[in-house]
Amino acid sequence: MSERPPAHIARLIPRLELTGTERILELGAAPGVAVAEIGPLLSGDGHVTALDRSATGVRRIRERNQALVDAGRVTVVEQDLTTLSATPPQRFDLIFASNVNVFWTHPRKANVDALAALLAPGGRLRLFYGYGPDDGAGSGRDTGSLVAATLRACAALTAVTIDGGSATLQVSAEKAD
Ligand SMILES: C[S@@+](CC[C@H](N)C(=O)[O-])C[C@H]1O[C@@H](n2cnc3c(N)ncnc32)[C@H](O)[C@@H]1O
Repeated sequence: MSERPPAHIARLIPRLELTGTERILELGAAPGVAVAEIGPLLSGDGHVTALDRSATGVRRIRERNQALVDAGRVTVVEQDLTTLSATPPQRFDLIFASNVNVFWTHPRKANVDALAALLAPGGRLRLFYGYGPDDGAGSGRDTGSLVAATLRACAALTAVTIDGGSATLQVSAEKAD
């Protein structure tokens, strides 16, 4: 796509620190803007699974990324995270999400357990919040602390950090080797 991505998506792409060969899962990927930005950066076995539970959202992801789907770089999945199978080889080196709130609403434990199961050993989890300047921490809510507390309660995740020092709030974790 030649159109410029929204600022909150443009900001998160470099923070993914991609080599391009990762197996990536984007949770809540509609309308597919981040996928469209990442697609051209992929090489080798690099692949993105774009997951969203919204039928309309999934249609938009497909419309925006049809060439990447046809090239085998992107798979679009219409499903709720908690129903996704984590049976190998469906394991990801990187899972990320932008502005998905399931980590402080019910059923947050089920969602985080699902993410942890889907991460490969040593895999990275990156959660981003905010749409514009001064929006990163969410509207009056300490989003970073809420999300980090949920991640820290998951035994499979380690190295949970919060970076709220810019327009984008980032909460990171790793899965132990
Ligand atoms: C607020 S939108 C964010 C869209 C985009 N990531 C962005 O930052 O502009 C949240 C998206 O996450 C999806 N979503 C929320 N919870 C989900 C879940 N448990 N499984 C799959 N998709 C989910 C919603 O359908 C929606 O499309």
